[in-house]
Formats: sequence, C-alpha cells, structure tokens
Amino acid sequence: YVLIIDFGGQYNQLIARRVRENNVYCEVKPYTTPLEELKALNPIGIIFTGGPNSVYLEESPHISKEIFEWGVPVLGICYGCQLMAYTLGGEVTPAQDDSAREYGKTKTYYNTDCKLFQGLPEEGISWMSHSDYMARVPEGFALVAHSDACPNVAIADESRGFYGVQYHPEVNHTEHGQDMLHNFLYNVCGAVGDWTMEDYCKTAIAAVREQVGDGKVLLGLSGGVDSSVAAALLAEAVGNQLTCVFVDHGLMRKNEGDEVEAAFKKWDINFVRADAEQRFLDKLAGVTEPEKKRKIIGAEFIRVFEEESSKVGQVDFLVQGTIYPDVIESGKGDAAVIKSHHNVGGLPDDVQFQIIEPLRMLFKDEVRQLGRELGLPEYLVMRQPFPGPGLAIRIIGEITKEKADILRDADAIFREEIANAGLQYSINQYFAVLTNMRSVGVMGDARTYDYTLALRGVTTTDFMTADWARIPYEVLDKASSRIVNEVAGINRIVYDITSKPPATIEWE
Ligand code: XMP
Repeated sequence: YVLIIDFGGQYNQLIARRVRENNVYCEVKPYTTPLEELKALNPIGIIFTGGPNSVYLEESPHISKEIFEWGVPVLGICYGCQLMAYTLGGEVTPAQDDSAREYGKTKTYYNTDCKLFQGLPEEGISWMSHSDYMARVPEGFALVAHSDACPNVAIADESRGFYGVQYHPEVNHTEHGQDMLHNFLYNVCGAVGDWTMEDYCKTAIAAVREQVGDGKVLLGLSGGVDSSVAAALLAEAVGNQLTCVFVDHGLMRKNEGDEVEAAFKKWDINFVRADAEQRFLDKLAGVTEPEKKRKIIGAEFIRVFEEESSKVGQVDFLVQGTIYPDVIESGKGDAAVIKSHHNVGGLPDDVQFQIIEPLRMLFKDEVRQLGRELGLPEYLVMRQPFPGPGLAIRIIGEITKEKADILRDADAIFREEIANAGLQYSINQYFAVLTNMRSVGVMGDARTYDYTLALRGVTTTDFMTADWARIPYEVLDKASSRIVNEVAGINRIVYDITSKPPATIEWE
C-alpha cells in the first residue's frame, strides 16, 4: 500500500495510475486527512503530489513534520518536494530570476548512484513547472540532479529514504519518469508488486459475497463501461440474487440494446430489458429544445426504472458504478472539482437499501481490465462514452422514429469505417449527427431534397476540452460515399472541424 497525499496538483490521479501500473496498490488522500488515519493505513511509501501554491505562504497546504518520523520513505513531487524541504528546515523562496523558474521540457542531469536514478541514463528531458526555488536544502540532503539553470532539481536523504524532485516524473514528457517511480517503489520502498487485476477480481467477488449475504441486489444497467462491469462483477458474485434493469429508451445506437443483452446471457441473473421506445417517443414528440429533451428523458427514465424495479419486491442493495476519479474529484480530494454531471439518477429519498460501489477504487483503465477478467466482450469494455439521452441530442430539432433510424444506420457505417481504418481507440469519441437541415442534391437523374448529416470525431483526455480528430480524407471519403449510397434520406455529409471550446462535443 502506497499513500499519495494530495496537495491539489493537477496530476495527482496520474501519479496514482502510474503507481498502479507498477503493480503497486495506492490511494490518494487529501492532505487534510488526520495524521492518525494516514498512519493507520500502514503505507510502505508516501508520495506528496504537486500543487499550485507556494510553501512559504501561511495559507498554503502544509503537513505535520511528524510524518517524517514514521520511518516510511517519502517521495515529494514538485510542490511536494518543496514542502518536504521546507518542513525539514530548508528554505524555499520565489525564484529570483527567470532562469531558476522552469516550465516545460528541461534538460536534466542525474546522479545515477542515487537509488532513484539507478540503471537510468545520466541525462534526459524532464517536465518542469515551478516558480519557486529551494534556496537551501535541509540538513542531510544531497543534490542528486541538476539542470543548466538549477542546481537542485532533485534532492535525496538516502539514509532516511526521502527523495524530492522538482519535475513531474508521472507525465510522459519526462523521459524515464516511469522508471524513476519504479525505482522508488521497488528499490526504496521494497514493494513486491502484487497488485494485479486478476487478484483484485477475486478479492472483489469475495468481498461482495460477504457484504450481500443472501440479500437482493438491484442494478440500473446503461450499457456503458462502468455499469456493465459493475453488473458483471455482481453477476459473478451473487448470480440470481441480482436484478439488472436495462431501460431501453429506443435512442441507443444500432444493435446496442441487443449487444448489451447478449453480453449478460452467460450469467444466471434476473435481466430485465424494459422496451420503452414508444413511451419516450410519445413524450418527446414535438420537442425541439435540447435541455427540455434532456429533462424529459431523465424524468421518464427514472419512472420506467422505478416501475420495473418495484416488480422485484424488497431490495437490500443498490449498485452504483462510481469509479475512483469521481471519488477523488467529488471534493474529498483537494483538486479543483472538475466535472459536474455524474450519472447518479434521482432516486427516491424514502427507499431503504445500502449502496454498493464495487468500482469505487478503480481508474477507468482498471475498470476495463476488470471487465475483461470477468469475460465481458471487447465491444463493451472499450465502448466510447455515449450520453444518457442518447441519439435524442444527436437529432437536431424534433425527434421521430424515422429520423432515429436514419441516424442509427448512418452512425453505424461511420463507426464501421473508423474501425476498418483501425482508428477506434485513437479517436476518443466519434459519431454522426442528423442535422435539421435539408439541401438539394442529385441522384441518378433525379433531384433530391434530403438531410445533411454531420460527422464528428474528437481527441481528448478529459472531455472538458477537445480537438477535432484529423481523420484521414480517405476514411471520411469512404464513410461519406457509403452513407449517401446506403442510407435513404441523406444526400450530403459534412465533417465538424471545431474544437471544444468554443463548440461542445455533442451538437445539443
Ligand atoms: P459536451 O457536448 O458537453 O460533452 O462537450 C462532453 C461529454 O459529455 C457527454 N454528454 C452527456 N452525457 N448526459 C450524459 O450522460 C448528457 O446529457 C450529456 N451531454 C453530453 C458527451 O457525450 C461527451 O462525452
């Protein structure tokens, strides 16, 4: 167990993922967590994250000196490094001149006798982002890396297992950064590397069985990665004590509902697919305003879910697909709260059940890996994000069954061509949008007056900002000619070349 103490840095989750990629389990805890609580976790090593503050200011995050008396190795990164220096009696000041203030890729020279850099090249690029300077390092510390501008890029007191680096070893721009973390975990902390998804899967199944006993479990399945993996885990753990309610609002992509249902056939669970297409279409008839569509769908969704789940009778547990980034971002960590819409539906207040969150400690990549362990098909495990309101917000203007069918067919061809080109994992989200515009075309000898379809593809890490994907012309060309030939009702295709901001990823 490695403890990551969060001082508000933007890369704190990345550090945790890197540690776990080294097969070492870790958790991120805010620096405000009481010290006894942290000590009780019995970590083999501690990592201080970066952060936006200056350690010498009173209002900045600090930590008690006592943590250095536990006999546990500490790696401080960026702010974490300065905090370590400051807390142990060194001096940190604002950088006096521009040369000591470093940003971006920086040539760095390492002392490879230091355990952190053992077996690595003596120089390489590191990713810097700091404007403070360690004017004096604490007693007992040696300078173990430098740059052309800065003599103390890394410091170490190897006798106590304390290491500090001013740069960010967790980002890809730092050459051999992952090896440095590996060295810290294995050479310094003595990690054994026993965190594997195979193990986790077994442990999680046993834990769920223990918690649930012979109780009844309810899960709302959306067909997205998280709810599918949570469902598979529960299915494996408690079998027919589990009811999965899959509300099919009729605004899913082509074949999606059947695919989801098929993936769960192998388990003996109570799988309820509520075919509510007509209900949703009726409610949405004549509605054109995007937020109104969302509200209607959200409300109807809950109604259908409640109707179906009330047929199950008394339920003891409700499963939610919360994953670790949600836990860290929900304000318990110190990182700025980034995402506001989490899909925790409006459940009635008066129901009595316990919540199970079996993915609570997992990052997205780990959730996918767990899904594979549980035997879910790759098309579910690697599914791109799909909004709750589904195609409703990709049909501009009024929604009809006819429009939804046109869009489904066109979208399926686009996705097929992306997959044929091997681009399905490098483009983070890609889909077709049925615009509400018709234009004139010519097919054979006849004039047509049909819909314009827009294709959208974006690359992004967090979906808060995104760039339009540079899909090769040949791929766009193939998709375009197939769609206009194979899908009646579309005679023109455009590709969306706006980034977010100023546009959003979806069109509504
Ligand atoms: P935008 O369009 O806001 O989308 O750039 C960012 C990400 O959020 C998804 N999205 C939604 N997801 N309900 C959802 O569950 C919604 O109403 C919704 N609107 C957008 C979108 O697909 C993208 O991944």
